[in-house]
Amino acid sequence: MTRISTITSVLLTIASLEHTALAAPLAATGTSSATVPTALLGFSPDNTVKNENTDNIDFQFAAGQTEAANIGPYLDFNNIQNPQPIRGTKGGTDPGPRTEEYDVLNPDKLAPPGTDHGGVDNAQWPLGLSHNKLGLGRAGWSRQQNTDNIPIATDMAGVDMRLEEGAYRELHWHKAAEWSYVLNGSVRVQAVNEEGQTFVDDLNAGDVWYFPPGVPHSLQGLAGGVEFLLVFDDGSFSEDNTFLASETFAHNPLEVLSKNFQLPLSAWSNIPPGELFIFPGTKAPADISKQNIVGSAGIVPIENSYTYHLSKAAPTHEVEGGSIKVLDPTLFPIASSFSAAIVTVKPGAMREIHWHTTSDEWNFFVAGNARISVYAAQGNARTFDYHAGDCGYIPKSMTHYVENIGTDDVVFVEVLQADHFSDVSLGQWVGLTPPQIIQDTLNLTNETVSQFKKEKQYIVQGDVVA
Ligand SMILES: *[C@@H]1O[C@H](CO)[C@@H](O)[C@H](O)[C@H]1NC(C)=O
Ligand SMILES: *[C@@H]1O[C@H](CO)[C@@H](O)[C@H](O)[C@H]1NC(C)=O
Ligand SMILES: *[C@@H]1O[C@H](CO)[C@@H](O)[C@H](O)[C@H]1NC(C)=O
Repeated sequence: MTRISTITSVLLTIASLEHTALAAPLAATGTSSATVPTALLGFSPDNTVKNENTDNIDFQFAAGQTEAANIGPYLDFNNIQNPQPIRGTKGGTDPGPRTEEYDVLNPDKLAPPGTDHGGVDNAQWPLGLSHNKLGLGRAGWSRQQNTDNIPIATDMAGVDMRLEEGAYRELHWHKAAEWSYVLNGSVRVQAVNEEGQTFVDDLNAGDVWYFPPGVPHSLQGLAGGVEFLLVFDDGSFSEDNTFLASETFAHNPLEVLSKNFQLPLSAWSNIPPGELFIFPGTKAPADISKQNIVGSAGIVPIENSYTYHLSKAAPTHEVEGGSIKVLDPTLFPIASSFSAAIVTVKPGAMREIHWHTTSDEWNFFVAGNARISVYAAQGNARTFDYHAGDCGYIPKSMTHYVENIGTDDVVFVEVLQADHFSDVSLGQWVGLTPPQIIQDTLNLTNETVSQFKKEKQYIVQGDVVA
């Protein structure tokens, strides 16, 4: 093509936005389309095909992998050579590239049960993939899950935090309500509310605390330190967005601080320039009464206590396959929107298929290995695998179970935004529905329907297949 005017070139450039096949703009800038090397572009009669022999990919099947796909047992790929994305008659081999460690951890992603269908929003997040926020002076750390990593988890977010002995999560408050379950060790919790009522208590692993929005509090690791789980009633909560004592002092004019406290400027000469977040401190006195500070409003009344010694409570339901310990506002009134259960599921056993009527479920796996299938209506269902340290999120109304797929107990915490803990049990629902309706709907035999139970099971025992 010969040279064309600049104006034509501009017009052709605009036209080329709609018709990218136009080669003219290249020509207009002085590059001829003829200079594009074409030797490797598209079809060539000289092309030869190089076949790989992948028929001899060496691999083993896990137990149950060749069964009909909709039976869908858990596939244990540990110690299985070169696990493959095959389930029953579906799938095929994977020559690579791949990260086999992910496949072993997530067998229901590699080879989903045949009952999975369509799309279900992500419902799983390993905190091991969350960026860690490290405290000062090796005093601890914190890792969080929020809508950044589970976008549908809009109603709740979680944090796993460690404080070494004497270390503080500095005095702070936030817009969200905070519910916490102590995972390991012991901690001193302390708060002052808007009435000027004070609160201080020590908690052990298995205990719970709650702080209402805006109420300033601090946490300090006792001997041996502490690790705890925090759950917030806002899915976009971030530990990077809390109101801190250090920053409150660092970001008010010193003249104003002096006026506020009626103290000289020299009082502030050594205050920290900004955030402390997690930092080492003087060990808490073993005698907690040394930290009982009381103003004219007195202490927080016992019925409004910010702590609940759940570790000392007996399970609410205990069955052969495990146990469930429920804590909701009927027992812990201050946490008026948090209803939770600490669930233990023995190997092979399963938290039965159920759903929650009005609340999403946020959960955290404290121990063991489990899987959950989420049925999300419109024919969509998907199975996710969970391990100790993983978070999960199940939107309201969606059915789910928690199956122990390992050899150790599964312990998990399920948290709802509800004024009492409740679920609809699939088993109880069909057990209490007139049998004729169930038989007509599901084409089950009279004998099967007559064995449905009329009571919630919560946890069912393992291994009833054949
Ligand atoms: C706390 O962690 C230590 C160190 O990992 C462990 O030995 C201990 O069993 C844990 N305690 C609880 C209650 O989980
Ligand atoms: C119910 O199951 C029986 C036995 O397999 C079958 O013959 C029948 O067609 C089924 N009925 C319906 C309505 O699917
Ligand atoms: C179905 O089961 C019920 C309860 O076990 C029994 O009373 C009834 O006679 C059975 N009906 C038929 C048609 O088998």
